[in-house]
Amino acid sequence: MDTPENSTPCSYENFWQNEAEKLPWFKPWHTVLDWQPPHARWFVGGEINASYACLDIHIHGELKDKTALVWCDETGVERHLTYSDLYKLVNRIADALKQKGVKKGDVVAIFMPLIPEAVAAMLAVARLGAIHCVIFSGFGADALRDRIRDVKATLIITADAGRRRGKCIPLKETLDRALELDSMVKTVVVVKSTGYAVSMHEGRDIYFDDFLAQASSYCAPEAVESHHPLFILHTSGSTGAPKGVVHATGGYLTYVYSTLKEAFGITKDDVYWCTADIGWITGHSYLVYAPLMHGATVMLYEGSHDYPTDVAWWQIIERFKVTIFYTAPTALRLFMKQGVDDIARHNLSSLRVLGSVGEPLNPQVWEWYARVVGGGRDPLRCPIIDTWWQTETGGFMIAPKVLRDHDAVKPGSVMHPLSGIEADIVSSDGLPVEPGSKGFLVIKKPWPGMLVGIWGDNERYKRTYWSRFTGMFDTSDCAIKDRDGCFWILGRSDEVIKISAHRIGTAEIETAVLSQGAVAESAAIGVDDSLRGQTIVLFVVLRAGIAISDSLKKEIIERVHKSLGRFIVITDLFCVDRLPKTRSGKILRRVLRALVQREPLGDLTTLEDGAVIEDICAQYKQFEK
Ligand code: PRX
Repeated sequence: MDTPENSTPCSYENFWQNEAEKLPWFKPWHTVLDWQPPHARWFVGGEINASYACLDIHIHGELKDKTALVWCDETGVERHLTYSDLYKLVNRIADALKQKGVKKGDVVAIFMPLIPEAVAAMLAVARLGAIHCVIFSGFGADALRDRIRDVKATLIITADAGRRRGKCIPLKETLDRALELDSMVKTVVVVKSTGYAVSMHEGRDIYFDDFLAQASSYCAPEAVESHHPLFILHTSGSTGAPKGVVHATGGYLTYVYSTLKEAFGITKDDVYWCTADIGWITGHSYLVYAPLMHGATVMLYEGSHDYPTDVAWWQIIERFKVTIFYTAPTALRLFMKQGVDDIARHNLSSLRVLGSVGEPLNPQVWEWYARVVGGGRDPLRCPIIDTWWQTETGGFMIAPKVLRDHDAVKPGSVMHPLSGIEADIVSSDGLPVEPGSKGFLVIKKPWPGMLVGIWGDNERYKRTYWSRFTGMFDTSDCAIKDRDGCFWILGRSDEVIKISAHRIGTAEIETAVLSQGAVAESAAIGVDDSLRGQTIVLFVVLRAGIAISDSLKKEIIERVHKSLGRFIVITDLFCVDRLPKTRSGKILRRVLRALVQREPLGDLTTLEDGAVIEDICAQYKQFEK
C-alpha cells in the first residue's frame, strides 16, 4: 500500500477529510491518516461520540419529532419512535448502564431480537464510550458462549424471546444455557418483548423496566478518540474460532455515512428498510449507524419474509411507503420461485433504490428484481445497487455509482470501487492479472471503515489479512475485473460458507459435529444451492465400533443446530471410513466438494492416499462418474 510520503494529505486522504468534516466532532483531528502498515489510525487527535452523531444532532432541530424507527412484527403490530423518543430511551439505558459501573472501554454483549430496544442498547453502550458486541439472536448456546467469553463481557442485554413464523424463539433460555459454566457475567438485563416465560437468576438477572427505574433522562455522551473501538463483531474465517473484528469510532462513522450517501443517495426524507439483522455487519452499518446519522426513518421488521403470508415484505413496503430497500439475493431467489402475481398486487411505487448484498446477484435475479420489484421503472430512477463489502471493510467498497455518475450497470457486476477505494485483482503471487482473468480481490490503500484489529489477537489480524500479498489487504474473495474496470465477484477463495448470506466457517461446524461423541472426524462442505446460495454437506468418520443409523444422523445434525443455530442448513450427511487428506494431515475439502457437485476433482497429487476417493465412490454410488 502507498505510504504518504510527507504530511500533505494525498488526494484520497483529502477526500476522506472532506467526508469526515460532515460529522459532528467534539475536537478536530490533527492528522488525517497515520498509516503504519498494517495498522491505520484515521483522524488522529479527533474526538467524537457515535450516539451523539446519530441522535443529539437531530433532537434540537426539525427532525426532533420525525420517526426514527418504525418497528412492526408478523402480526402487524407497529411501534413508532421519534428521534426524541429514541434519544430519551438511549439516555436512560446509558445512565442505567453507568449506574451498574459500565464505563469507557468496557465490553457489553447484546443478544437481542430485532426490536427498537436492541438499536437503543447499541447506541447507549456507544454513548458511554463502551464497546458493544452484538451476537446474532439466531445463534445457539455454544456459539453464544464462545463469543461472550472471547470478549469477557460481564453485562449482557437480552430479551425473553424473539418472534419468527408465529413462534417464540427463546433467547433468555439459550443465554442461560450459554452461561451455565460461566462465572464472569454479573448482570443480565432482560427485555420483556413477547411475554415468553423465563427463569430469572437471583442476583444476576434484572428486567429491563426495573433496570431503567432509577435512570436519569440524560446521560452525557463520552467524547472518545477517533481510534477508540466502537464495537466488536465476530465473523468466521477458514480456520479456528470466530474472529472478533474490531471497528473504531471516527473512521468507521465517516465511512458508513459517506458510502450510504454515495451509493444510495440517502436523505432524511427516506423510509429506509434494510432487511438484515443487527447481529451482522449490515445491521450495524446500514440499519443503525449510517441511516440514523442521515436522519432517515429506519424500518425494523421482526419476522420472516413468508409469514403469515408470502407477501409480508411487499405489504410492508406498501404500508410504510419504503423508499430504499436493501436485501440479500437469497431472499429474492425465494420470491422468484413463488411467482410474480402476489407481488404485482402491491403498490411498490414508493421505492427509488433497490440494494443487494451478501452474495453474487446473478443476472437473472438482477433482471427479476428490476422488473418485478422495481416495476421496470427507469434504471436511473429506481436503480439496483449491488454492494460488495465484508464485515472487515465496515461498509460498501464496490458498488454502482448510478445516482452520482449515471453509471450504466452491467447486471451481475458490482461495477467500480467507490470514491477513495483502490481495489484490484491479483494472481497468487500478488501481481495484477489481465483484464477478464480470475484472481484474488485485494484492496491497495487503507480506508476509514477498515477493521482496526481482531480482538485480543494482533498476530491473527496480520496473518489473516496482510500476510498473503505484500502491502495489500486480502479480502479472501475471488473476482474478475473486465476491460472496462468493472468487478465481477465470484465468491470466497477460502473455506467460509455462506448460507442465505450468513457467514460461517467450516471449523465452527466441524467442532459442533465433533461434540457428538460418536464422531471421530468430520469435514463440512459448502455446496451450491439454488435458493440459499450454499448449504452444508457433512462427511463424518465414526469412532471404532459405532455404526451409522438414521437416528445418529439426526442427533449429529441436531447437535449442530443446538450448538450454532437453526440457520445452519445441512442437506446431507455421509459416513465414510477415511477423509481425503494431504500428507501433512490437512483435510482436502475441495475434493469432497467436487465429488458432491460432480465436478472434476482437480489436482490429486497432494493426497496422502489416492485410494480414499475410490473407497468413498464405491460406498456411495452417486459420486461415481
Ligand atoms: O464473499 C463475499 C460476500 O460476502 C462476504 C462477506 O461476508 P460478511 O462479512 O458476512 O458480510 C456480508 C455483508 C457485507 C464477502 O467476502 N459478498 C458480500 N457482498 C457481496 C458478496 N458477494 C457477491 N456480491 C456481493 N455484493
